[in-house]
Amino acid sequence: MDAGIRPYKPEDFEALYRLDQQCYAPGIAYSRRTLKWYLDLEGADCLLAERDDAIAGFIVTARDGNLGHIITLDVAEAQRRRGIGTALLAEAEARMMESGVRRMSLETATDNLPAVAFWQRHGYRTDAVLKNYYSDTLDAYEMCKMLSAKAQPRQT
Ligand SMILES: CC(C)(COP(=O)(O)OP(=O)(O)OC[C@H]1O[C@@H](n2cnc3c(N)ncnc32)[C@H](O)[C@@H]1OP(=O)(O)O)[C@@H](O)C(=O)NCCC(=O)NCCS
Repeated sequence: MDAGIRPYKPEDFEALYRLDQQCYAPGIAYSRRTLKWYLDLEGADCLLAERDDAIAGFIVTARDGNLGHIITLDVAEAQRRRGIGTALLAEAEARMMESGVRRMSLETATDNLPAVAFWQRHGYRTDAVLKNYYSDTLDAYEMCKMLSAKAQPRQT
């Protein structure tokens, strides 16, 4: 994985918005207002992966005490299966660990098979099925993982 990871800067906003629109179907992709709302949440953290001077992916998380939540993880289609999602998640989990988070959770659409495979590969397990979670029509899996210091090598 030869992409560099760095924290989000406000000037990245439009590129993140466009990437999110490409990654998700209409109705599931965030509006500018919703994306900004998540980025501004108390406890929010956003990391970007850059490759060849372009944003290849990003992850947004939020922390509430010892609970961490993955709000979104987006990798550009042309950059997938190259370890970028894995690298973003590893760095986000490491930062969560450092700030005292012990349990991570997320929601993902039950028909998003690549994402379900990705989360399972990284130790996330289904806790519940949330009926009609997306657009009042599409079910989601709530997936969780306990963080442990040993499982979170920081990528330097
Ligand atoms: C899900 C997503 C973030 C994965 O990002 P990525 O950079 O391609 O993931 P990685 O290359 O780090 O993949 C790590 C592992 O996850 C699993 N995986 C990832 N994509 C997969 C796919 N399409 N099919 C099956 N398994 C997959 C594999 O085990 C993979 O390891 P391998 O390539 O050695 O087989 C990316 O597909 C994406 O952005 N999708 C659109 C947005 C989305 O659905 N986000 C998550 C929703 S919560």
